[in-house]
Amino acid sequence: MGEGKHLVGVDIGASSVKVVQLKEGRGKRLEVIRQGYSELPPQTIIDNHVMNASNVTEALLRIYTDAKITQKEVAVGVYGQSVIVRKITVPMMSNDELEEQIGWEAEQHIPFDIKVMSIDYEVLRRRPEAGQMDLLLVAAKRDEINDYAAILKDAKLKPVVVDINAFTIQNVFENQYGLPPDSTVALLNVGAAVSSLNIVSQGVSSFTREITNAGNQITDEIQKQCNVPSEQAEAYKRGGGSTEVVPQEVHAIIQTACDGLAGEIQRSLDFYLATSGEQEINRIVVSGGSAYLAPLCKSIEKRARVPVQLFDPFQNLTVDAKFVNEASLRARAAQFVVALGLALRCEKERRVA
Ligand SMILES: Nc1ncnc2c1ncn2[C@@H]1O[C@H](COP(=O)(O)OP(=O)(O)OP(=O)(O)O)[C@@H](O)[C@H]1O
Ligand SMILES: [Mg+2]
Repeated sequence: MGEGKHLVGVDIGASSVKVVQLKEGRGKRLEVIRQGYSELPPQTIIDNHVMNASNVTEALLRIYTDAKITQKEVAVGVYGQSVIVRKITVPMMSNDELEEQIGWEAEQHIPFDIKVMSIDYEVLRRRPEAGQMDLLLVAAKRDEINDYAAILKDAKLKPVVVDINAFTIQNVFENQYGLPPDSTVALLNVGAAVSSLNIVSQGVSSFTREITNAGNQITDEIQKQCNVPSEQAEAYKRGGGSTEVVPQEVHAIIQTACDGLAGEIQRSLDFYLATSGEQEINRIVVSGGSAYLAPLCKSIEKRARVPVQLFDPFQNLTVDAKFVNEASLRARAAQFVVALGLALRCEKERRVA
C-alpha cells in the first residue's frame, strides 16, 4: 500500500455508480467512513462507452451531497474493450532497459496504435535461468481515460489514480484473504453489462477475460418473454420483493439465461485450463450485483465442479455508523468490491494507467 491518505473509490458501472471512502483506524484496521450508490438511467453507458456524461456527473454530485463526502481526490476504475491486458515474456533486462524497451514490446502485442494508448506494466516473474522475464502489460485508450477525467472534473472531482477493475478486485481479495501461493482462484465479477474473469494462480494474475453478457441480459430475457416493462422484469429477477407474486414461468426463464451465461464463463475456464498447463481451479469467488442471483452461482458451480463462493469484501472492515448505513452496505457488499478496491489506493502511489 502506498503512502498518504486514501483516495475516494469511484466505480462507474453500466447500471450504477458506487463510491467508497476508507480511513485507517486504530490498529491499522480499515474503516468505511462514507459510502454512496446511485442508479444510472438506462442507456447512460452502452458497450462501456459513456453516452450521457451528464447522467454520470449528476449521479456523482448526488452521491457526494447525500453521503456528505468532502474529499475530492478519487481513484477511478476502467474496464471493457478500451483496456487490454496481456501477459508477455521478454528477455531478462534491467529496470532501466525495460523502461526504454516497453514501447517497442507493447507494439508487438497491442492491436492498436500505441500512440493513442496509455501503457503500463508490472514484472510478474524474473526467470534468470531461462534468461527471460514475464510481464503483465496493460494498455488503456487515452481517449477513454480522458472521457472519464472530463466527467469527474465536471463533478468537481480530481482523478489521481486510474486502475483496472479486474486488478482492483484482486487487490481486495489479497487484502482480505491473502493470495494463496499454492492454489488457483478464479475471481469473477458479474455486473449489469459485463462479466469479467481474472484467474490468479500462485499469487499472480494469469488470465483475464471479459464477456459482454451479465445481469442485463437476464432482465431483458424476462422482459421479452413475459412482455413486461424492464422495472417489472428486474423486480421478478430479484425475487419480486415481499408483496409481489412472481409468475411461475419466470423461474424457468432465469434458469435458462443463467445456464447460458454459466456456459460462456465455463468456456473461458476451459480455455485457461487447456492453454496454461494448470490442472485445476480450486475455487471461484463471485462479486458484482449478479452474484446475488442464486441460480447463476449454482449453474457455474455445477459446470465447473469447483466451489463457488460469494465475495464479501467488507467482512474484516468496520463501518462508521454515523455516516454509513451498515445494513444496506452489507446487503449490497458484493456490488461494492470494485469501489472498495479503488478506495484502497492512496494518494502518493504510482499511477497504474
Ligand atoms: N439481489 C439481486 N438479485 C439478482 N440480481 C441483482 C441483485 N442485485 C443486483 N442485481 C443485478 O446486478 C447488476 C448490477 O450489478 P453491478 O452494480 O455489479 O453492475 P455494474 O457495475 O453497474 O455494471 P457493469 O460492471 O456490468 O458495468 C444488475 O444487472 C442487477 O439486476
Ligand atoms: Mg461493475
